[in-house]
Amino acid sequence: MDAKVHELLNQQINKEFYSAYLYLDFSNYFKAVGLDGFANWYMIQAQEERDHAMLFYTYLQNEDMKVALDAIAKPDKEFKCHMDVLEAGLEHEEYVTSLINDIYGAAYDVRDFRTMQFLDWFVKEQGEEETNAKDLITKMELFGSDPKSLYMLNQELSTRVYTAPSLVL
Ligand code: FEO
Repeated sequence: MDAKVHELLNQQINKEFYSAYLYLDFSNYFKAVGLDGFANWYMIQAQEERDHAMLFYTYLQNEDMKVALDAIAKPDKEFKCHMDVLEAGLEHEEYVTSLINDIYGAAYDVRDFRTMQFLDWFVKEQGEEETNAKDLITKMELFGSDPKSLYMLNQELSTRVYTAPSLVL
């Protein structure tokens, strides 16, 4: 495997674990303000991010490439209101999309078709993650200022259940 592709794939393990840590922090925020449905939604999001990290980890191991784990950064975002959290989520997913695109670009440059095929799942997943983050913002804009509607939105988000990723390595 090309050294740059290897480095970026290895870094992505850390980025995905950081994403899990960030969403756990979001979940923690919502739990503290009593919105347990939102807390559930972000807890499941954190589980999905851990899965993403493990997919990169397993892919490198399957390719007989070295995995080097690094320290996970502290989530350091400050939230003044619920919407701040949701917007930070969208901003983060857009950042992760740019990271996936960077790895894809590096793989493309060296005709690493296997890595490109592996990343195809993540390209699609990022589209879904950005859509989910935007949908949450829209719902909060529409319903967040009315306590009854916020209660119902919280109920809706409490029904999200964890499902394992459709990509199996
Ligand atoms: Fe692993 Fe939310 O992207």
